[in-house]
Amino acid sequence: MNLEGKVAIVTGAAAMLGSAIVRAFVQGGAQVFAVDVDSVRGEALQAELGPRCRFVACDIASDTALDALVADVLASAGRIDFLVNNAVVYGDKGLEASRGEWLQALDVNLVSGAMLLQKTADALAAQGGAVVNMGSVGGKFGAAGRALYPAAKAAILQLTRNQAASLAPRRVRVNSVSPGWTWSDALSRMAGGDRAHADRVAAPMHPLGRAGDTDDVAQVVLFLCSDAARFVTGADIPVDGGFSMLGPDQGRSARDWFGG
Ligand SMILES: NC(=O)c1ccc[n+]([C@@H]2O[C@H](COP(=O)([O-])OP(=O)(O)OC[C@H]3O[C@@H](n4cnc5c(N)ncnc54)[C@H](O)[C@@H]3O)[C@@H](O)[C@H]2O)c1
Repeated sequence: MNLEGKVAIVTGAAAMLGSAIVRAFVQGGAQVFAVDVDSVRGEALQAELGPRCRFVACDIASDTALDALVADVLASAGRIDFLVNNAVVYGDKGLEASRGEWLQALDVNLVSGAMLLQKTADALAAQGGAVVNMGSVGGKFGAAGRALYPAAKAAILQLTRNQAASLAPRRVRVNSVSPGWTWSDALSRMAGGDRAHADRVAAPMHPLGRAGDTDDVAQVVLFLCSDAARFVTGADIPVDGGFSMLGPDQGRSARDWFGG
């Protein structure tokens, strides 16, 4: 995939999944602006990847910071071809969530990406660019005790369709990617750093038999930004090893469950 000369903004770039997306763009030849509030890991990523990766410390929940980010990218690179809205806060609650907790979760996980697209839309339209919003299997199914994160992730799929419809006349494509369990900071923490353990726990829910790799997700993000996906917009691509194709019966008929 040749992305030479193209410019991408990736949010939430400092953690494992975001940095895999940045790496994939850099390997494809793009110039990447890696956006995060975590300066320590952001600077480390920039040092690892060299001149094609510029870390920008930026809180996406601040409009002033987003304005400065877009001005910075346009001043130094002169164009924006791709936007990947990947940043997230995982703090999650269900029925007991306060109004403040709702607003904070929706602000980072949903509204900030919408604001960043608003601020980059003209630049993206000038290039016939592409946007990828990050969904999740967590936004597709009910889960007791959870609401903030899943509601934001479900809303992202609808927002993607609305953004795609609004921007199609300007030749900007907007799609989402919905990962299953991915070997990320969160999963690694839960599995005590033991990848084989994570795969064993993930296998019954992911028919392909393991948790996802960050690069599994990154390659689909890259595909959606590439010319190979030039006629794809308003779509959600699950990158979940089959998690979302199965219902609660795990693909087995009633006859199977009755043992015959
Ligand atoms: N990890 C998984 O298994 C999984 C599964 C499905 C979907 N996803 C999606 O993938 C994306 C990345 O998830 P992750 O697991 O890497 O999350 P993570 O928490 O490991 O990383 C999120 C990154 O976003 C940054 N961030 C948070 N608030 C920010 C803000 N206000 N401004 C700028 N940066 C901010 C954090 O510093 C962090 O680097 C998310 O959209 C998530 O919903 C992940």
